[in-house]
Amino acid sequence: MRQNRPVPFKITSLDSLGQGVSKIGERITFIPKTLPGEEGEAVIHSEKKGVAFAKLSTLTQKSSARIQPMCPHFSQCPSCHYLHTSYEMEIESKRENFQKLFRNLPLPELKVVPAPERLGYRNRVQLHYDTKTRKLGMLDARSSEIIPVPFCLIAEKNVELKLKELYHDDVWLNLVPMGLSRGHVEIYQVGTETKLSWNEGYSSGGFTQVYQKMNRLLQMELIDWYGTEKEDVLDLFAGNGNLTNDLPFSNRLCVDIYTEQKSSDFLSLSLYDKNALQSVSNQLKKKKFSIKTLILDPPRSGLSNLAEWLEVISPQRVAYVSCDPHTMVRDLQKVSGYHLTRAVLLDFFPSTFHFESLIFLERK
Ligand SMILES: C[S@@+](CC[C@H](N)C(=O)[O-])C[C@H]1O[C@@H](n2cnc3c(N)ncnc32)[C@H](O)[C@@H]1O
Repeated sequence: MRQNRPVPFKITSLDSLGQGVSKIGERITFIPKTLPGEEGEAVIHSEKKGVAFAKLSTLTQKSSARIQPMCPHFSQCPSCHYLHTSYEMEIESKRENFQKLFRNLPLPELKVVPAPERLGYRNRVQLHYDTKTRKLGMLDARSSEIIPVPFCLIAEKNVELKLKELYHDDVWLNLVPMGLSRGHVEIYQVGTETKLSWNEGYSSGGFTQVYQKMNRLLQMELIDWYGTEKEDVLDLFAGNGNLTNDLPFSNRLCVDIYTEQKSSDFLSLSLYDKNALQSVSNQLKKKKFSIKTLILDPPRSGLSNLAEWLEVISPQRVAYVSCDPHTMVRDLQKVSGYHLTRAVLLDFFPSTFHFESLIFLERK
């Protein structure tokens, strides 16, 4: 059914990626940057597993919730998904999609923590480059095309200024390391310094949360839940201990593959290795820790054997922080012997479909 000519659509809802959903012919079709109730024409560019993907070409019926996007790149750039509507609608869409994902789990009432700013919050931005086509910009994963973005309104001011510098007279072309015609560059803020790193595999300077004010709100949720009684704490995917540094623990073990910390409460280990659970469990025994609180904050792939971790470590309570609610739900569905006590959606990545979720569990 692949077509190059525009076909009519009518949007019925928004999916979890912030895209409009329409039935075109017999096929569910996803059209980014549209809103429920909107009608118009779109060009289908690909199909997969019985669904189709299309690009908006014209709008004949606009939603009353549509606004003029603040960013001039919005219609082309793959990074932002909600700038064509109000922040209230963005938050509502995230809430609805989150609740749908949890439909088979007994989700407690959901608390939503909105972002203090919708723009100007990111302390790091990653761009892709191709010296042959002389393009620098955001990578459209679907088309592999690089979309130039001389402005990025979700970046912090200094990061945004560095971005402008790179584009000015194509300065970036002189900075690309020798030998690699295609790659990526990260612009990131450390204190008052704005730095660049070219073609590094992982966040330069180690993992840091991209939105500092939201990070503080996340820490406050954990502090409030934890209380004042000192306990032994296990922090998995801990980075530099961001989520437990401010908790009044009696003992702590932080585990991460890339941690920069050298103190004895940090263990450098791949938590996806088949022996990871055994290694951590041995460490805890050796240290004579009795873990009451487990906090985990995995990357998008989640922790598919979370249920096994809970059986072996047997914490009284758990806080699961996740940037991908799909893998979080997959992991939680396998857990038994615990109930969900609180659920929080923190809007860490406003203007995009991403957010952080926080689920608290208590042993029955
Ligand atoms: C979402 S970040 C959370 C970091 C930390 N909790 C924080 O708030 O700053 C995910 C962390 O998982 C770590 N990570 C990625 N792959 C890993 C692996 N295979 N084993 C252990 N840690 C891993 C990363 O280094 C990163 O620090």
